[in-house]
Amino acid sequence: MAILLGLLFGTLSLAAWWVLQNYTYWKRRGIPHDPPSILFGNTRELWRSMQLAHIIKRTYFKYKNKIDGPFVGFYLYAMKYIVITDIDFVKTVLVRDFEKFHDRGVYHNERDDPLTNNLATIEGEKWKNLRQKLTPTFTPGKMKNMFPTVLNVGDELIRVIDEKISSSPQTLEVTELVARFTADVIGICAFGLECNSLRDPTAEFVRMGYSALRERRHGWLVDLLIFGAPKLAVKLGFQFLLPPVQEFYMKIVRDSIEYRIKNKVTRNDLMDLLIDLKLKYDSGDRQSGLTFNEVAAQVFTFFLAGFEAGSTTMGFALYELACNQDVQEKVRTEVDTVLGKHNGKLDYDSMQEMNYLEKVIDETLRKHPVVAHLARIATKPFAHSSPKYFIEAGTGVLVPTLAIHHDPEFYPEPEKFIPERFDKEQIEKRPACAFLPFGAGPRNCIGLRLGRMQVMIGMALLIRNFRFDLHPTKTTFPVKYQIKNLLLSSEGGINLNVSKVVRD
Ligand code: HEM
Ligand SMILES: *[C@@H]1O[C@H](CO)[C@@H](O)[C@H](O)[C@H]1NC(C)=O
Ligand SMILES: *[C@@H]1O[C@H](CO)[C@@H](O)[C@H](O)[C@H]1NC(C)=O
Repeated sequence: MAILLGLLFGTLSLAAWWVLQNYTYWKRRGIPHDPPSILFGNTRELWRSMQLAHIIKRTYFKYKNKIDGPFVGFYLYAMKYIVITDIDFVKTVLVRDFEKFHDRGVYHNERDDPLTNNLATIEGEKWKNLRQKLTPTFTPGKMKNMFPTVLNVGDELIRVIDEKISSSPQTLEVTELVARFTADVIGICAFGLECNSLRDPTAEFVRMGYSALRERRHGWLVDLLIFGAPKLAVKLGFQFLLPPVQEFYMKIVRDSIEYRIKNKVTRNDLMDLLIDLKLKYDSGDRQSGLTFNEVAAQVFTFFLAGFEAGSTTMGFALYELACNQDVQEKVRTEVDTVLGKHNGKLDYDSMQEMNYLEKVIDETLRKHPVVAHLARIATKPFAHSSPKYFIEAGTGVLVPTLAIHHDPEFYPEPEKFIPERFDKEQIEKRPACAFLPFGAGPRNCIGLRLGRMQVMIGMALLIRNFRFDLHPTKTTFPVKYQIKNLLLSSEGGINLNVSKVVRD
Protein backbone atom coordinates (compact mmCIF):
# COMPACT_ATOMS: atom_id res chain seq x y z
CA MET A 1 0.00 0.00 0.00
CA ALA A 2 2.68 2.43 1.02
CA ILE A 3 4.65 1.55 -2.08
CA LEU A 4 1.59 2.21 -4.25
CA LEU A 5 0.99 5.56 -2.60
CA GLY A 6 4.62 6.43 -2.97
CA LEU A 7 4.50 5.53 -6.65
CA LEU A 8 1.35 7.59 -7.14
CA PHE A 9 2.89 10.53 -5.34
CA GLY A 10 6.05 10.16 -7.40
CA THR A 11 4.14 10.11 -10.69
CA LEU A 12 2.05 13.08 -9.69
CA SER A 13 5.02 15.19 -8.71
CA LEU A 14 6.78 14.20 -11.91
CA ALA A 15 3.73 15.29 -13.90
CA ALA A 16 3.51 18.51 -11.92
CA TRP A 17 7.18 19.19 -12.46
CA TRP A 18 6.76 18.51 -16.18
CA VAL A 19 3.92 21.02 -16.41
CA LEU A 20 5.53 23.62 -14.15
CA GLN A 21 8.89 23.64 -15.85
CA ASN A 22 7.16 24.87 -19.02
CA TYR A 23 6.25 28.06 -17.17
CA THR A 24 9.81 28.92 -16.23
CA TYR A 25 11.15 28.82 -19.78
CA TRP A 26 11.34 32.57 -20.42
CA LYS A 27 12.55 33.24 -16.90
CA ARG A 28 15.40 30.77 -17.32
CA ARG A 29 16.32 32.49 -20.56
CA GLY A 30 16.16 36.00 -19.08
CA ILE A 31 13.70 37.21 -21.73
CA PRO A 32 11.21 39.86 -20.53
CA HIS A 33 7.65 38.56 -20.13
CA ASP A 34 4.55 38.83 -17.93
CA PRO A 35 4.49 36.24 -15.14
CA PRO A 36 2.23 33.37 -16.24
CA SER A 37 -0.50 31.77 -14.18
CA ILE A 38 -0.36 27.99 -13.92
CA LEU A 39 -2.51 26.15 -16.51
CA PHE A 40 -3.53 29.34 -18.33
CA GLY A 41 -0.16 30.98 -18.93
CA ASN A 42 -0.66 34.58 -20.05
CA THR A 43 -4.06 33.78 -21.52
CA ARG A 44 -6.18 33.57 -18.39
CA GLU A 45 -8.73 36.04 -19.83
CA LEU A 46 -9.02 34.24 -23.18
CA TRP A 47 -12.62 33.32 -24.14
CA ARG A 48 -13.84 34.87 -20.88
CA SER A 49 -13.17 38.58 -20.85
CA MET A 50 -10.65 39.29 -23.61
CA GLN A 51 -9.78 38.24 -27.13
CA LEU A 52 -6.32 36.94 -27.91
CA ALA A 53 -5.58 39.92 -30.18
CA HIS A 54 -6.38 42.33 -27.33
CA ILE A 55 -4.22 40.41 -24.86
CA ILE A 56 -1.39 40.56 -27.39
CA LYS A 57 -2.02 44.28 -27.96
CA ARG A 58 -1.72 44.98 -24.25
CA THR A 59 1.57 43.05 -24.16
CA TYR A 60 2.90 44.95 -27.21
CA PHE A 61 2.28 48.40 -25.76
CA LYS A 62 3.58 47.41 -22.35
CA TYR A 63 6.99 46.35 -23.71
CA LYS A 64 7.51 48.14 -27.02
CA ASN A 65 10.70 50.29 -26.96
CA LYS A 66 11.30 49.31 -23.32
CA ILE A 67 13.30 46.12 -23.87
CA ASP A 68 16.69 45.31 -25.39
CA GLY A 69 15.39 42.91 -28.07
CA PRO A 70 12.72 42.52 -30.74
CA PHE A 71 10.24 40.37 -28.79
CA VAL A 72 8.91 39.35 -25.36
CA GLY A 73 8.11 35.90 -24.03
CA PHE A 74 4.49 34.77 -23.81
CA TYR A 75 2.66 31.63 -22.72
CA LEU A 76 -0.39 30.59 -24.71
CA TYR A 77 -1.70 28.19 -22.07
CA ALA A 78 1.41 26.03 -21.53
CA MET A 79 3.07 26.67 -24.87
CA LYS A 80 5.96 29.01 -25.31
CA TYR A 81 5.38 31.84 -27.74
CA ILE A 82 6.97 35.17 -28.51
CA VAL A 83 5.08 38.41 -29.12
CA ILE A 84 6.95 40.63 -31.58
CA THR A 85 7.36 44.23 -30.40
CA ASP A 86 9.63 45.48 -33.20
CA ILE A 87 8.13 46.21 -36.64
CA ASP A 88 11.30 45.28 -38.51
CA PHE A 89 11.33 41.87 -36.85
CA VAL A 90 7.81 41.26 -38.18
CA LYS A 91 9.30 41.38 -41.67
CA THR A 92 12.09 39.03 -40.60
CA VAL A 93 9.61 36.37 -39.50
CA LEU A 94 7.01 36.75 -42.26
CA VAL A 95 9.27 37.47 -45.22
CA ARG A 96 13.07 37.49 -44.82
CA ASP A 97 13.45 34.29 -42.79
CA PHE A 98 10.24 32.64 -43.92
CA GLU A 99 12.10 29.35 -44.39
CA LYS A 100 12.36 29.07 -40.59
CA PHE A 101 8.78 30.14 -39.86
CA HIS A 102 6.56 28.58 -42.53
CA ASP A 103 4.02 26.80 -40.27
CA ARG A 104 1.20 28.02 -38.01
CA GLY A 105 1.25 25.19 -35.46
CA VAL A 106 -2.54 24.98 -35.16
CA TYR A 107 -4.74 21.94 -34.76
CA HIS A 108 -5.32 19.74 -37.82
CA ASN A 109 -6.24 16.10 -37.92
CA GLU A 110 -6.31 14.26 -41.21
CA ARG A 111 -7.65 11.00 -39.78
CA ASP A 112 -10.51 12.14 -37.53
CA ASP A 113 -11.26 15.64 -38.84
CA PRO A 114 -10.43 15.62 -42.58
CA LEU A 115 -11.85 19.12 -43.12
CA THR A 116 -9.35 20.60 -40.69
CA ASN A 117 -6.54 19.31 -42.87
CA ASN A 118 -6.45 22.31 -45.18
CA LEU A 119 -4.19 24.93 -46.70
CA ALA A 120 -4.40 27.15 -43.63
CA THR A 121 -3.32 24.43 -41.19
CA ILE A 122 -1.01 21.92 -42.92
CA GLU A 123 2.74 22.21 -42.67
CA GLY A 124 6.10 22.07 -44.39
CA GLU A 125 6.49 20.48 -47.81
CA LYS A 126 2.84 19.40 -47.84
CA TRP A 127 1.76 23.01 -47.46
CA LYS A 128 4.22 24.24 -50.08
CA ASN A 129 2.94 21.71 -52.65
CA LEU A 130 -0.69 22.50 -51.97
CA ARG A 131 -0.15 26.25 -52.05
CA GLN A 132 1.52 25.84 -55.45
CA LYS A 133 -1.39 23.81 -56.77
CA LEU A 134 -3.97 26.31 -55.54
CA THR A 135 -2.26 29.60 -56.39
CA PRO A 136 -3.33 29.59 -60.08
CA THR A 137 -6.93 29.52 -58.81
CA PHE A 138 -6.72 33.12 -57.58
CA THR A 139 -4.97 35.06 -60.39
CA PRO A 140 -6.40 38.43 -61.53
CA GLY A 141 -7.59 36.71 -64.72
CA LYS A 142 -9.62 34.18 -62.70
CA MET A 143 -11.05 37.01 -60.58
CA LYS A 144 -12.14 38.83 -63.71
CA ASN A 145 -13.97 35.68 -64.81
CA MET A 146 -15.75 35.47 -61.46
CA PHE A 147 -16.67 39.15 -61.42
CA PRO A 148 -20.10 38.82 -63.13
CA THR A 149 -21.07 36.02 -60.73
CA VAL A 150 -20.25 38.16 -57.70
CA LEU A 151 -22.01 41.15 -59.25
CA ASN A 152 -25.21 39.11 -59.68
CA VAL A 153 -25.24 38.29 -56.00
CA GLY A 154 -24.60 41.97 -55.25
CA ASP A 155 -27.62 42.99 -57.33
CA GLU A 156 -29.71 40.52 -55.35
CA LEU A 157 -28.46 42.09 -52.09
CA ILE A 158 -29.66 45.48 -53.30
CA ARG A 159 -33.09 44.06 -54.24
CA VAL A 160 -33.47 42.41 -50.85
CA ILE A 161 -32.66 45.64 -48.96
CA ASP A 162 -34.88 47.61 -51.35
CA GLU A 163 -37.82 45.40 -50.43
CA LYS A 164 -37.12 45.81 -46.72
CA ILE A 165 -37.18 49.60 -46.86
CA SER A 166 -39.70 50.04 -49.66
CA SER A 167 -42.34 51.66 -47.48
CA SER A 168 -40.12 53.63 -45.09
CA PRO A 169 -36.50 53.89 -43.90
CA GLN A 170 -35.62 51.17 -41.42
CA THR A 171 -33.04 50.39 -38.82
CA LEU A 172 -31.34 47.22 -40.03
CA GLU A 173 -28.66 44.95 -38.64
CA VAL A 174 -26.31 45.22 -41.59
CA THR A 175 -23.68 42.61 -40.70
CA GLU A 176 -26.19 39.82 -40.93
CA LEU A 177 -27.42 41.09 -44.31
CA VAL A 178 -23.97 41.38 -45.82
CA ALA A 179 -23.04 37.99 -44.32
CA ARG A 180 -25.77 36.48 -46.45
CA PHE A 181 -24.23 38.27 -49.44
CA THR A 182 -20.71 36.94 -48.78
CA ALA A 183 -22.09 33.47 -48.02
CA ASP A 184 -23.87 33.45 -51.37
CA VAL A 185 -20.73 34.71 -53.12
CA ILE A 186 -18.51 32.02 -51.65
CA GLY A 187 -21.32 29.48 -51.95
CA ILE A 188 -21.50 30.00 -55.67
CA CYS A 189 -17.79 30.58 -56.32
CA ALA A 190 -16.39 27.80 -54.15
CA PHE A 191 -19.20 25.26 -53.84
CA GLY A 192 -20.92 26.10 -57.11
CA LEU A 193 -24.12 26.27 -55.14
CA GLU A 194 -26.99 28.73 -55.45
CA CYS A 195 -27.58 28.80 -51.74
CA ASN A 196 -29.79 31.86 -51.89
CA SER A 197 -29.38 32.71 -48.25
CA LEU A 198 -30.21 36.32 -49.16
CA ARG A 199 -33.83 35.24 -49.67
CA ASP A 200 -33.86 32.51 -47.08
CA PRO A 201 -32.26 33.74 -43.88
CA THR A 202 -32.49 30.31 -42.32
CA ALA A 203 -30.44 28.80 -45.14
CA GLU A 204 -28.61 25.83 -43.76
CA PHE A 205 -25.46 26.88 -45.50
CA VAL A 206 -25.01 30.01 -43.39
CA ARG A 207 -26.24 28.41 -40.19
CA MET A 208 -23.66 25.68 -40.58
CA GLY A 209 -21.00 28.29 -41.32
CA TYR A 210 -21.64 30.11 -38.07
CA SER A 211 -21.89 26.84 -36.26
CA ALA A 212 -18.46 25.80 -37.52
CA LEU A 213 -17.00 29.12 -36.48
CA ARG A 214 -18.74 29.75 -33.19
CA GLU A 215 -20.06 26.65 -31.53
CA ARG A 216 -17.54 24.92 -29.41
CA ARG A 217 -17.89 21.18 -29.62
CA HIS A 218 -16.28 20.71 -26.27
CA GLY A 219 -16.02 22.53 -22.99
CA TRP A 220 -13.09 24.77 -22.23
CA LEU A 221 -10.94 21.91 -20.95
CA VAL A 222 -10.79 20.14 -24.28
CA ASP A 223 -10.49 23.46 -26.12
CA LEU A 224 -7.54 24.19 -23.91
CA LEU A 225 -6.00 20.98 -25.13
CA ILE A 226 -6.83 21.57 -28.81
CA PHE A 227 -5.49 25.12 -28.76
CA GLY A 228 -2.79 24.59 -26.16
CA ALA A 229 -1.41 21.23 -27.23
CA PRO A 230 -2.66 20.53 -30.77
CA LYS A 231 -0.33 17.61 -31.42
CA LEU A 232 -1.42 15.83 -28.26
CA ALA A 233 -5.10 16.47 -29.10
CA VAL A 234 -4.57 14.73 -32.46
CA LYS A 235 -2.92 11.74 -30.81
CA LEU A 236 -5.86 11.41 -28.45
CA GLY A 237 -8.26 11.50 -31.39
CA PHE A 238 -10.19 14.62 -30.39
CA GLN A 239 -12.42 16.11 -33.05
CA PHE A 240 -12.90 19.83 -33.30
CA LEU A 241 -15.76 20.12 -35.77
CA LEU A 242 -19.28 19.11 -34.88
CA PRO A 243 -20.27 15.94 -36.79
CA PRO A 244 -23.32 17.53 -38.49
CA VAL A 245 -21.12 20.33 -39.80
CA GLN A 246 -18.61 17.84 -41.12
CA GLU A 247 -21.27 15.70 -42.81
CA PHE A 248 -23.12 18.68 -44.24
CA TYR A 249 -20.13 20.12 -46.08
CA MET A 250 -18.81 16.75 -47.23
CA LYS A 251 -22.17 16.01 -48.80
CA ILE A 252 -22.45 19.37 -50.57
CA VAL A 253 -18.99 18.98 -52.06
CA ARG A 254 -19.64 15.39 -53.13
CA ASP A 255 -22.97 16.29 -54.79
CA SER A 256 -21.54 19.32 -56.50
CA ILE A 257 -18.56 17.42 -57.94
CA GLU A 258 -20.75 14.56 -59.14
CA TYR A 259 -23.24 16.91 -60.75
CA ARG A 260 -20.61 18.88 -62.61
CA ILE A 261 -18.71 15.87 -63.85
CA LYS A 262 -21.88 14.08 -64.95
CA ASN A 263 -23.43 17.08 -66.68
CA LYS A 264 -20.13 18.58 -67.90
CA VAL A 265 -20.98 21.91 -66.26
CA THR A 266 -18.22 24.51 -66.13
CA ARG A 267 -18.61 27.90 -64.46
CA ASN A 268 -15.18 29.54 -64.28
CA ASP A 269 -15.20 29.35 -60.49
CA LEU A 270 -13.08 27.91 -57.71
CA MET A 271 -14.92 24.58 -57.79
CA ASP A 272 -14.07 24.09 -61.49
CA LEU A 273 -10.41 24.53 -60.76
CA LEU A 274 -10.57 22.15 -57.80
CA ILE A 275 -12.38 19.53 -59.88
CA ASP A 276 -9.58 19.73 -62.45
CA LEU A 277 -7.13 18.94 -59.65
CA LYS A 278 -9.25 15.99 -58.52
CA LEU A 279 -9.52 14.59 -62.06
CA LYS A 280 -5.75 14.91 -62.33
CA TYR A 281 -5.37 12.82 -59.20
CA ASP A 282 -7.88 10.23 -60.41
CA SER A 283 -6.01 9.86 -63.68
CA GLY A 284 -2.89 8.90 -61.75
CA ASP A 285 -1.10 12.26 -61.40
CA ARG A 286 -0.80 12.19 -57.62
CA GLN A 287 1.99 14.73 -57.65
CA SER A 288 -0.11 17.65 -58.86
CA GLY A 289 -3.65 16.34 -58.18
CA LEU A 290 -5.93 16.40 -55.10
CA THR A 291 -8.01 13.65 -53.45
CA PHE A 292 -11.70 14.10 -52.72
CA ASN A 293 -11.03 14.74 -49.03
CA GLU A 294 -8.44 17.33 -49.95
CA VAL A 295 -10.84 19.10 -52.29
CA ALA A 296 -13.54 19.11 -49.62
CA ALA A 297 -11.13 20.52 -47.04
CA GLN A 298 -10.06 23.40 -49.32
CA VAL A 299 -13.62 24.30 -50.25
CA PHE A 300 -14.55 24.31 -46.59
CA THR A 301 -11.60 26.59 -45.74
CA PHE A 302 -12.39 28.97 -48.58
CA PHE A 303 -15.92 29.18 -47.29
CA LEU A 304 -14.97 29.85 -43.67
CA ALA A 305 -12.12 32.20 -44.60
CA GLY A 306 -14.10 34.20 -47.12
CA PHE A 307 -17.52 34.30 -45.56
CA GLU A 308 -16.97 35.88 -42.19
CA ALA A 309 -13.85 37.95 -42.94
CA GLY A 310 -15.60 39.59 -45.89
CA SER A 311 -18.89 40.28 -44.17
CA THR A 312 -17.48 41.66 -40.93
CA THR A 313 -15.22 43.93 -42.96
CA MET A 314 -18.24 45.26 -44.86
CA GLY A 315 -20.17 45.70 -41.63
CA PHE A 316 -17.34 47.73 -40.06
CA ALA A 317 -16.98 49.78 -43.27
CA LEU A 318 -20.68 50.70 -43.22
CA TYR A 319 -20.40 51.58 -39.54
CA GLU A 320 -17.45 53.92 -40.20
CA LEU A 321 -19.29 55.52 -43.12
CA ALA A 322 -22.30 56.13 -40.88
CA CYS A 323 -20.00 57.77 -38.31
CA ASN A 324 -18.18 59.80 -40.98
CA GLN A 325 -20.86 61.25 -43.25
CA ASP A 326 -18.39 63.38 -45.22
CA VAL A 327 -16.48 60.23 -46.19
CA GLN A 328 -19.74 58.52 -47.14
CA GLU A 329 -20.68 61.43 -49.44
CA LYS A 330 -17.24 61.37 -51.04
CA VAL A 331 -17.44 57.62 -51.74
CA ARG A 332 -20.91 58.00 -53.23
CA THR A 333 -19.73 60.80 -55.51
CA GLU A 334 -16.81 58.67 -56.66
CA VAL A 335 -18.96 55.62 -57.36
CA ASP A 336 -21.49 57.75 -59.28
CA THR A 337 -18.77 59.47 -61.31
CA VAL A 338 -17.00 56.25 -62.27
CA LEU A 339 -20.25 54.51 -63.18
CA GLY A 340 -21.33 57.60 -65.12
CA LYS A 341 -18.22 57.21 -67.26
CA HIS A 342 -19.04 53.55 -67.92
CA ASN A 343 -22.74 53.81 -68.85
CA GLY A 344 -23.81 53.05 -65.30
CA LYS A 345 -22.25 49.60 -65.50
CA LEU A 346 -20.04 48.19 -62.79
CA ASP A 347 -17.38 45.89 -64.24
CA TYR A 348 -13.92 44.65 -63.41
CA ASP A 349 -12.19 47.61 -65.04
CA SER A 350 -14.43 50.38 -63.72
CA MET A 351 -13.96 48.94 -60.24
CA GLN A 352 -10.21 49.59 -60.50
CA GLU A 353 -10.94 53.33 -60.82
CA MET A 354 -12.66 53.56 -57.43
CA ASN A 355 -9.52 54.59 -55.59
CA TYR A 356 -11.17 56.38 -52.72
CA LEU A 357 -13.47 53.45 -51.97
CA GLU A 358 -10.40 51.26 -51.90
CA LYS A 359 -8.79 53.55 -49.32
CA VAL A 360 -11.97 53.46 -47.25
CA ILE A 361 -11.79 49.66 -47.23
CA ASP A 362 -8.09 49.73 -46.32
CA GLU A 363 -8.73 52.17 -43.49
CA THR A 364 -11.55 49.91 -42.27
CA LEU A 365 -9.19 46.92 -42.30
CA ARG A 366 -6.58 49.06 -40.53
CA LYS A 367 -8.89 50.06 -37.73
CA HIS A 368 -10.78 46.77 -37.49
CA PRO A 369 -8.53 44.01 -38.85
CA VAL A 370 -10.87 41.01 -38.73
CA VAL A 371 -7.89 38.68 -38.51
CA ALA A 372 -6.32 40.59 -35.66
CA HIS A 373 -3.15 38.58 -35.10
CA LEU A 374 -0.97 36.27 -37.18
CA ALA A 375 0.58 33.06 -35.91
CA ARG A 376 3.69 31.20 -36.99
CA ILE A 377 5.83 28.52 -35.43
CA ALA A 378 9.62 28.26 -35.65
CA THR A 379 10.46 25.04 -37.45
CA LYS A 380 14.21 25.65 -37.31
CA PRO A 381 16.32 27.43 -34.70
CA PHE A 382 16.75 31.14 -35.30
CA ALA A 383 19.84 33.14 -34.24
CA HIS A 384 19.46 36.87 -33.62
CA SER A 385 22.26 39.47 -33.80
CA SER A 386 21.66 40.05 -30.10
CA PRO A 387 22.58 36.50 -28.93
CA LYS A 388 20.18 36.45 -25.99
CA TYR A 389 17.24 36.64 -28.38
CA PHE A 390 17.64 33.30 -30.17
CA ILE A 391 14.49 31.32 -30.92
CA GLU A 392 14.32 27.56 -30.40
CA ALA A 393 12.55 25.35 -32.92
CA GLY A 394 9.00 24.68 -31.68
CA THR A 395 8.49 28.19 -30.31
CA GLY A 396 5.34 29.95 -31.49
CA VAL A 397 5.35 33.48 -32.88
CA LEU A 398 2.52 35.98 -32.52
CA VAL A 399 2.41 39.03 -34.79
CA PRO A 400 0.32 41.75 -33.11
CA THR A 401 -1.65 43.04 -36.12
CA LEU A 402 -4.25 44.89 -34.03
CA ALA A 403 -1.57 46.60 -31.95
CA ILE A 404 0.50 47.63 -34.97
CA HIS A 405 -2.60 49.02 -36.69
CA HIS A 406 -3.32 51.13 -33.58
CA ASP A 407 0.22 52.23 -32.90
CA PRO A 408 0.37 56.06 -33.06
CA GLU A 409 3.96 55.82 -34.28
CA PHE A 410 2.62 54.50 -37.61
CA TYR A 411 -0.94 55.85 -37.53
CA PRO A 412 -1.26 59.14 -35.59
CA GLU A 413 -4.60 59.43 -33.77
CA PRO A 414 -5.28 55.75 -34.44
CA GLU A 415 -8.93 55.85 -33.33
CA LYS A 416 -9.80 58.34 -36.10
CA PHE A 417 -11.05 57.07 -39.44
CA ILE A 418 -8.88 58.77 -42.10
CA PRO A 419 -8.87 57.08 -45.54
CA GLU A 420 -6.13 59.49 -46.73
CA ARG A 421 -3.69 57.45 -44.64
CA PHE A 422 -3.67 55.19 -47.69
CA ASP A 423 -2.54 57.85 -50.15
CA LYS A 424 0.58 56.61 -51.92
CA GLU A 425 2.94 59.10 -50.21
CA GLN A 426 1.55 58.21 -46.79
CA ILE A 427 1.99 54.47 -47.35
CA GLU A 428 5.58 54.98 -48.43
CA LYS A 429 6.38 56.76 -45.16
CA ARG A 430 5.48 53.69 -43.12
CA PRO A 431 7.73 50.68 -42.56
CA ALA A 432 7.03 47.43 -44.42
CA CYS A 433 4.57 45.21 -42.54
CA ALA A 434 2.80 48.13 -40.82
CA PHE A 435 -0.40 47.04 -42.63
CA LEU A 436 -1.24 43.36 -42.28
CA PRO A 437 -4.97 42.71 -42.83
CA PHE A 438 -4.11 39.87 -45.22
CA GLY A 439 -0.84 38.89 -43.56
CA ALA A 440 2.43 39.07 -45.49
CA GLY A 441 5.07 36.92 -47.14
CA PRO A 442 4.66 33.55 -48.88
CA ARG A 443 1.96 32.43 -46.41
CA ASN A 444 -0.29 35.46 -46.71
CA CYS A 445 -4.00 35.25 -47.59
CA ILE A 446 -4.38 33.28 -50.80
CA GLY A 447 -7.90 34.66 -51.30
CA LEU A 448 -6.88 38.32 -50.97
CA ARG A 449 -8.04 39.30 -54.46
CA LEU A 450 -11.38 37.56 -54.14
CA GLY A 451 -11.86 38.98 -50.65
CA ARG A 452 -11.14 42.51 -51.85
CA MET A 453 -13.27 42.08 -54.94
CA GLN A 454 -16.36 40.96 -53.08
CA VAL A 455 -16.03 43.77 -50.53
CA MET A 456 -15.49 46.38 -53.29
CA ILE A 457 -18.51 45.18 -55.31
CA GLY A 458 -20.76 44.95 -52.27
CA MET A 459 -19.76 48.37 -50.94
CA ALA A 460 -19.99 50.14 -54.31
CA LEU A 461 -23.53 48.86 -54.84
CA LEU A 462 -24.64 49.58 -51.27
CA ILE A 463 -23.32 53.13 -51.20
CA ARG A 464 -24.75 53.91 -54.63
CA ASN A 465 -28.20 52.81 -53.55
CA PHE A 466 -28.52 53.54 -49.85
CA ARG A 467 -27.64 56.04 -47.14
CA PHE A 468 -26.40 54.76 -43.80
CA ASP A 469 -26.91 56.72 -40.57
CA LEU A 470 -26.38 56.09 -36.88
CA HIS A 471 -29.45 55.32 -34.81
CA PRO A 472 -29.43 57.34 -31.57
CA THR A 473 -29.94 54.30 -29.33
CA LYS A 474 -29.76 51.11 -31.40
CA THR A 475 -26.27 51.67 -32.81
CA THR A 476 -23.62 50.54 -30.35
CA PHE A 477 -21.14 53.40 -30.33
CA PRO A 478 -18.22 52.89 -30.27
CA VAL A 479 -18.24 49.34 -31.64
CA LYS A 480 -17.91 46.59 -29.06
CA TYR A 481 -16.06 43.46 -30.08
CA GLN A 482 -17.29 39.95 -29.38
CA ILE A 483 -15.10 38.15 -26.89
CA LYS A 484 -15.86 34.57 -27.81
CA ASN A 485 -14.94 34.85 -31.46
CA LEU A 486 -11.51 34.17 -32.90
CA LEU A 487 -12.04 36.93 -35.48
CA LEU A 488 -12.88 40.54 -34.64
CA SER A 489 -16.63 40.96 -34.92
CA SER A 490 -19.15 43.31 -33.37
CA GLU A 491 -21.09 42.30 -30.30
CA GLY A 492 -24.78 42.58 -31.09
CA GLY A 493 -24.15 43.38 -34.74
CA ILE A 494 -24.20 46.78 -36.41
CA ASN A 495 -27.57 48.50 -36.45
CA LEU A 496 -27.89 51.42 -38.83
CA ASN A 497 -30.65 53.55 -40.30
CA VAL A 498 -30.90 52.61 -43.96
CA SER A 499 -32.71 54.80 -46.48
CA LYS A 500 -32.90 54.93 -50.24
CA VAL A 501 -30.66 57.41 -52.03
CA VAL A 502 -32.88 59.81 -53.96
CA ARG A 503 -31.48 61.14 -57.19
CA ASP A 504 -32.95 63.92 -59.29
C1 HEM B 1 -11.75 40.51 -46.44
C2 HEM B 1 -11.51 39.27 -46.59
C3 HEM B 1 -10.34 38.48 -46.04
C4 HEM B 1 -9.42 38.80 -45.07
C5 HEM B 1 -9.35 40.08 -44.23
C6 HEM B 1 -8.51 37.69 -44.96
C7 HEM B 1 -7.42 37.64 -44.10
C8 HEM B 1 -6.52 36.59 -44.02
C9 HEM B 1 -5.34 36.57 -43.16
C10 HEM B 1 -4.89 37.70 -42.25
C11 HEM B 1 -4.73 35.38 -43.33
C12 HEM B 1 -3.44 34.91 -42.61
C13 HEM B 1 -2.26 35.42 -43.41
C14 HEM B 1 -0.92 35.19 -42.73
O1 HEM B 1 -0.82 34.35 -41.82
O2 HEM B 1 0.08 35.88 -43.11
C15 HEM B 1 -5.50 34.62 -44.30
C16 HEM B 1 -5.18 33.36 -44.74
C17 HEM B 1 -5.95 32.64 -45.63
N1 HEM B 1 -7.07 33.11 -46.31
FE1 HEM B 1 -7.90 34.95 -46.18
N2 HEM B 1 -8.89 36.72 -45.85
C18 HEM B 1 -10.00 37.17 -46.53
C19 HEM B 1 -10.68 36.50 -47.54
C20 HEM B 1 -10.38 35.23 -47.98
C21 HEM B 1 -11.07 34.53 -49.04
C22 HEM B 1 -12.23 35.09 -49.86
C23 HEM B 1 -10.49 33.28 -49.15
C24 HEM B 1 -10.75 32.12 -50.08
C25 HEM B 1 -11.62 32.02 -50.99
C26 HEM B 1 -9.43 33.22 -48.16
C27 HEM B 1 -8.63 32.13 -47.96
C28 HEM B 1 -7.54 32.08 -47.09
C29 HEM B 1 -6.69 30.89 -46.93
C30 HEM B 1 -6.87 29.54 -47.61
C31 HEM B 1 -5.68 31.26 -46.01
C32 HEM B 1 -4.52 30.38 -45.55
C33 HEM B 1 -3.36 30.55 -46.52
C34 HEM B 1 -2.15 29.66 -46.24
O3 HEM B 1 -1.94 29.26 -45.08
O4 HEM B 1 -1.40 29.36 -47.20
N3 HEM B 1 -9.39 34.43 -47.48
N4 HEM B 1 -6.58 35.39 -44.70
C1 LIG C 1 5.27 22.50 -22.84
O1 LIG C 1 5.69 23.24 -23.96
C2 LIG C 1 5.86 22.50 -25.14
C3 LIG C 1 6.44 23.41 -26.20
O2 LIG C 1 5.92 24.69 -26.17
C4 LIG C 1 4.50 21.91 -25.55
O3 LIG C 1 4.62 21.16 -26.73
C5 LIG C 1 3.98 21.06 -24.42
O4 LIG C 1 2.70 20.58 -24.74
C6 LIG C 1 3.93 21.85 -23.12
N1 LIG C 1 3.56 20.99 -22.00
C7 LIG C 1 2.36 20.99 -21.43
C8 LIG C 1 2.17 20.16 -20.24
O5 LIG C 1 1.43 21.66 -21.90
C1 LIG D 1 -32.70 56.91 -37.32
O1 LIG D 1 -34.01 56.40 -37.20
C2 LIG D 1 -34.68 56.77 -35.99
C3 LIG D 1 -36.01 56.04 -35.92
O2 LIG D 1 -36.58 55.85 -37.18
C4 LIG D 1 -34.82 58.28 -35.94
O3 LIG D 1 -35.45 58.65 -34.73
C5 LIG D 1 -33.45 58.92 -36.04
O4 LIG D 1 -33.56 60.32 -36.10
C6 LIG D 1 -32.71 58.43 -37.28
N1 LIG D 1 -31.37 58.99 -37.26
C7 LIG D 1 -30.79 59.57 -38.30
C8 LIG D 1 -29.44 60.14 -38.11
O5 LIG D 1 -31.34 59.63 -39.39
